[in-house]
Amino acid sequence: MKVSVFGLGYVGCVSAACFAAQGHEVLGVDINPDKVAALNAGRSPIIEPGLEELVRTGVAEGRLAATQDVEKAVAHADALLICVGTPSMPNGNLDVTYVERVGAQIGQALRDVDDYKVVILRSTVLPGTVKDLLLPALTKRSGKEAGVDFGVVTNPEFLREGSAIKDFLDPSFTLVGAMESRSADVVEQLYESLDAPIVKTDLDTACMVKYASNAFHALKVTFANEIGRLSKKVGVDSTEVMDIFCKDTRLNISSRYLRPGFAFGGSCLPKDLRAMLYLGRHKDVSLPVLEAILPSNEQQVRDIATLVMRDDYKRVGLIGLSFKPNTDDLRESPIVELVEILSGKGMEVRIFDENVQLSRLIGGNKAFIERVVPHISNLLCDSIADVVNNSEVIVVAHDVEEHHRQLLDLLTPDHMVIDFVKTFSERDGSSMVPKSTYRYEGIYW
Ligand SMILES: NC(=O)c1ccc[n+]([C@@H]2O[C@H](COP(=O)([O-])OP(=O)(O)OC[C@H]3O[C@@H](n4cnc5c(N)ncnc54)[C@H](O)[C@@H]3O)[C@@H](O)[C@H]2O)c1
Repeated sequence: MKVSVFGLGYVGCVSAACFAAQGHEVLGVDINPDKVAALNAGRSPIIEPGLEELVRTGVAEGRLAATQDVEKAVAHADALLICVGTPSMPNGNLDVTYVERVGAQIGQALRDVDDYKVVILRSTVLPGTVKDLLLPALTKRSGKEAGVDFGVVTNPEFLREGSAIKDFLDPSFTLVGAMESRSADVVEQLYESLDAPIVKTDLDTACMVKYASNAFHALKVTFANEIGRLSKKVGVDSTEVMDIFCKDTRLNISSRYLRPGFAFGGSCLPKDLRAMLYLGRHKDVSLPVLEAILPSNEQQVRDIATLVMRDDYKRVGLIGLSFKPNTDDLRESPIVELVEILSGKGMEVRIFDENVQLSRLIGGNKAFIERVVPHISNLLCDSIADVVNNSEVIVVAHDVEEHHRQLLDLLTPDHMVIDFVKTFSERDGSSMVPKSTYRYEGIYW
């Protein structure tokens, strides 16, 4: 394919040289004449292992060149890759001036071309940037319509400096956020020779995946360092701790616990976190990331209580009370906290949980629930039907197929469902009951 790469920094140079090495005809563009001159002389404008050689070969074989001429670059290519910088502003916001400027330049040049070109935004931008900034810049200057006369996709880059070429050639996946399939297909063709799956989604989801990834990487480093700080203080080798920790690929290094949903709780996680934090304070070790976990979890319960109360419903039914299905353990269940808040605000609460029968609760569990929700016996119902028939808003708090099946038979257009477990909507999608028979809101989707 013919490709133009706008911005010859770390991402742009690596992309341009790698695409050329794969046989594409690549023209790089930069406002900096020194970078353009260096590349045309077969030299890499940046230091990155292996790049100098790729640039030299690409230029020598006539598949890689650079220019400052935007019109020439737009005319040259079917795929127009934007790799300009998006630095931080002093207030933390992203400076997208370069994206806007290059968008306007490309838009101006698109005015005079007839064929369908795809603008591929490779720079890291926040969700909303394409719709609010890049698309207006492109359409205003070109006088053309996105998705009809030209395409726009987001295609975040995941390479790491120092191993950028390897990362480019062997990514976990190629992520394509598109408004329409024609543009996504062009990007798929561009990356055809990479042995990596193409993941297609919408424009903003792709942007958010990049931010989720970088935030998670930063969190992992900081988490490991806080474990290191605490371990050292108590005479434990944290590298050994984390080596063993990483051997658990079911719960620790896995997709487990990485699905947005309701707050965590139960008899272990909050208790053990508090004990670690206490130890840290006792040993004068600062653990700000670990310290932030419980307040964030509590905030989540408050936010969801606000969501349940938002539309002034008076009667709420909860399906599920224990901190997760298949247990009667109520200790530190965030759903119990939710019940406290909703009852305290005057809502009539009804609850169904097949594992929670007051007559069968014993010991600390019974004492806990009677202390926290003294009128619990008035709230518990014997069946889902009892809850649904006496409530306006239904909170689906447990992911239990049998609950979902019964709910679908009982819900009416007067009911509002608030779903904590996305599988409810997924199952619903494949059921016989159309969604229009009740109103629905997922907590984070
Ligand atoms: N550096 C990384 O490891 C990395 C990894 C993944 C994603 N990203 C993202 O990729 C983007 C680019 O990062 P970078 O590190 O390559 O940036 P960079 O600052 O090294 O390079 C940006 C280049 O864009 C050029 N430029 C600016 N305006 C231009 C215009 N109108 N036309 C042509 N060129 C123009 C600049 O002269 C510069 O050479 C950023 O959004 C960054 O967040 C970077």
